[in-house]
Amino acid sequence: MPESLWYKNAVFYEVYVRAFFDSDGDGNGDLNGLTQKLDYLQSLGVDCLWLLPIYPSPLKDDGYDISDYTGIHPDYGTLADFKNLLEAAHARHIRLIMDLVLNHSSDQHPWFQAARSDRNSPFRDYYVWSDSDKKYDQARIIFVDTEKSNWTWDEAAGQYFWHRFYSSQPDLNFDNPAVRAEFLRIMRFWLDLGVDGFRVDAVPYLFEREDTNCENLPETHAFLKEIRRYVDKNYPGRILLCEANQWPEDVRTYLGDGDEFQLAFHFPLMPRIFMGLRRADSVPIEWALTHTPSIPENCQWCTFLRNHDELTLEMVTEEERQWMWEQYAPEARMRLNLGIRRRLAPLLDNDPRKIGLAFSLLFTLPGSPIIYYGDEIGMGDDLQLPDRNGVRTPLQWDAGLNAGFSSARSIYSPVIGVAPYDPERVNVETSRSTNGSLWSRIQAMIAIRKSHPALCCGDLAWLDCGLPAVAAYLRRGSREHMLMVHNLSAVPQMIDCVLPEDFHGKIVDLLTSQAMGKTQGRLLLSIQPYEYRWLSIA
Ligand code: NOJ
Repeated sequence: MPESLWYKNAVFYEVYVRAFFDSDGDGNGDLNGLTQKLDYLQSLGVDCLWLLPIYPSPLKDDGYDISDYTGIHPDYGTLADFKNLLEAAHARHIRLIMDLVLNHSSDQHPWFQAARSDRNSPFRDYYVWSDSDKKYDQARIIFVDTEKSNWTWDEAAGQYFWHRFYSSQPDLNFDNPAVRAEFLRIMRFWLDLGVDGFRVDAVPYLFEREDTNCENLPETHAFLKEIRRYVDKNYPGRILLCEANQWPEDVRTYLGDGDEFQLAFHFPLMPRIFMGLRRADSVPIEWALTHTPSIPENCQWCTFLRNHDELTLEMVTEEERQWMWEQYAPEARMRLNLGIRRRLAPLLDNDPRKIGLAFSLLFTLPGSPIIYYGDEIGMGDDLQLPDRNGVRTPLQWDAGLNAGFSSARSIYSPVIGVAPYDPERVNVETSRSTNGSLWSRIQAMIAIRKSHPALCCGDLAWLDCGLPAVAAYLRRGSREHMLMVHNLSAVPQMIDCVLPEDFHGKIVDLLTSQAMGKTQGRLLLSIQPYEYRWLSIA
């Protein structure tokens, strides 16, 4: 694969810098802290870091409310620290992408301050104003738990302003060419420093049009294509990753003809992995993939289990959502907006077999996988904390003070203190040095994935073995075929099924390196509860 397509087979790692490592003892994780821990990420096998927003911000939405797009939040360090981080990451062959928040700024951004205080300011038209709060009434409210309307009255401005998220995040007006030009300038700033691309936040909502739901509009695609042309022309090899929480056919449009985003999160697959596991039924997972349209050769899906937000249930039916809530969030405090504010390990009953199985699906289904910091050691969450803060607690490095995260007396968030997720039981040091731990299994899976390109880019086909609880699929590569088998249930399964003709040959279990004889045209296998097997057939 040409180097310019590196993202098609990369393992991404999502970092919340504040939670990662505090280098200066002020209680907040920082850029220098992350730099100091790059060896850790390299040893896990990470290829690319995605940093949650690190810009100056009043932090009403944890940095997704930006008040200066080309600065660094003082809690995180300086631009010099950032350059140092980038250089150190690149020296370890780790790439780095940043969050680019186009749709809205903070209400503290000087653009908004100027806009609200003077109708004649050139910045007035940077935002979307109205004398009435009835415009665009077909647009849904996203943060349903906190916002009652997408319009908020601004006393100073004497008008309503439009916002798809918190009312402290006014939407920018992309009909204004000056706003579009600002973002090319902002991108240039970071790309010139050497960043490898952007995860682009909330892309469906850039434009507003009456009598539409104001999502996925043609104008939005046109602007995103313009951004892509700009990046390709001036910074070939850098990537744009699309955050569009939409159905597969709508997300697919953001890849265009290979001329919009290179990557897009696969939102519909994620909840169906959890559904499949809880129901001991592979149908939801298979459904998500069979309803995934094919994508251009230079594009890739980004698959994930969890991230810094609630586990979103927007891409399931109403009935499925109720079922997911009953199963995975039985208490009201576990729910947020249309989702579940819990981490991976608690969702999967802290059962190492289930967690390993979920990662195995992540690493073997098509797409570039993203690991959310802390999930590689099975961290827990804190339901006492509001909003999504409970899944953003300090990374537990060891069993010492503040879990080895910081030497400060007071830190930005409590460390998870309650068994079985407390730092005595869950920490990087122990997980890394224990054979068979979650961390070790993930590390091994990543290493195997890298030396078997069929896992990244081979065609996917489902193998029907007549057992609903078994997710078995084939990945056909140019040099090697692979067969992935997952037992989604709590009981052993006996598999006996016919294999396609091109799957005849010697079987090697890649996770144990054991030869298992020849297929003789069939797969005969007994598989334990929640066990997964990665078989190479050549
Ligand atoms: C999506 C981000 O993932 C989320 O954390 C944020 O609150 C919204 N976009 C608004 O920027």
